[in-house]
Amino acid sequence: MSKTYSWGILAPGNIAGKFVAELKGLDNARILAVGSRDLNRAREFADIHGIPRSYGSYEELVSDPDIDIIYIASPHVFHAEQTKLCLRHHKAVLCEKAFGMNSEEVREMIDTAHMEQTFLMEAFFTPHQPSYREARQLIESGQVGEILHIHGWFGFNKSPYDPKGRLFNPALGGSAILDIGLYPLFDVLWFMGEPSELNAFADLTPDNIDQTITVNLQYEGGKSASIFASFLSATGVGTDIYCEKGMLRLRRTGALNQSLEILLPGESVRILNWDETSCGLKLEASETMKCLCENQLESPVMSHQCSIQLMKFLDLIREKIGTIKP
Ligand SMILES: NC(=O)c1ccc[n+]([C@@H]2O[C@H](COP(=O)([O-])OP(=O)(O)OC[C@H]3O[C@@H](n4cnc5c(N)ncnc54)[C@H](OP(=O)(O)O)[C@@H]3O)[C@@H](O)[C@H]2O)c1
Repeated sequence: MSKTYSWGILAPGNIAGKFVAELKGLDNARILAVGSRDLNRAREFADIHGIPRSYGSYEELVSDPDIDIIYIASPHVFHAEQTKLCLRHHKAVLCEKAFGMNSEEVREMIDTAHMEQTFLMEAFFTPHQPSYREARQLIESGQVGEILHIHGWFGFNKSPYDPKGRLFNPALGGSAILDIGLYPLFDVLWFMGEPSELNAFADLTPDNIDQTITVNLQYEGGKSASIFASFLSATGVGTDIYCEKGMLRLRRTGALNQSLEILLPGESVRILNWDETSCGLKLEASETMKCLCENQLESPVMSHQCSIQLMKFLDLIREKIGTIKP
């Protein structure tokens, strides 16, 4: 019989609520505790989700000896410090994206995981999802030919502009590329590998936050990719993969509803759909527990190297638009 793992939730905000709702559906997961900067907020979250233990500080949460895994769901600026805190208490960590604020932070987080011999994974949704795995298999099988171009986008309209809100606030890691543009960026890197050249253009707020960004990536052999992300445009999220023999369209509305459309000339469009029974945030949680069960310190699905590579390009893009120094 597989072991039941006890989870602690650090920072009970918006995504933590969605994650916990999915985690409850996993037989081998027990949500044991929640930690907030404010005990009342922790208690309120615990009451809503039926969580037995509440703590009024993150330190108390990581000191609970009965917790095996901590899910970190705070704004990105706090991820590095909080991950290191958890790892030093020998808690396995599943930490939300963006993993850190830059490559140096990500390196420190991974170094700490190695030093403490404790599991660490970025809570990055994509490579666990069946739609992406199916698309990758199709490409590897040669059925659609080589990829010539990928266009990926992620946008929603976050007006009215709130300079204090998480998305636009420099103190909370505000940035369209860090918050949502990293999804299409990951897709491009995952399907096409590293580009030979990259250019980026951004619309910046008065606080130097990229609220809309476009990125163009060039590859050897005339291949290319483009990315669009915006807090001002309700585009939804999608990735189109243009191949020699046809096209693949990845779509999703939220984490729990995904599709892959396969368009080949002369054939009717094939549409594959996945619903909440087979996709979502719970796949990251399942992968975490599978790795712990197998005594692995990192996941082969979302490896440390994947997180390092993603952050390397997030740094490069922000250097191009001038929001961080080279
Ligand atoms: N995987 C996904 O699909 C997905 C979706 C949305 C967001 N995310 C990621 O999840 C993280 C959190 O996003 P969110 O939208 O859930 O944020 P949020 O609702 O604003 O919640 C963040 C939580 O962090 C805690 N926090 C700690 N220090 C804070 C500070 N100085 N200011 C504000 N909050 C602070 C707060 O909890 P306490 O004060 O109660 O401790 C707050 O409830 C981000 O890194 C984001 O990129 C992932």
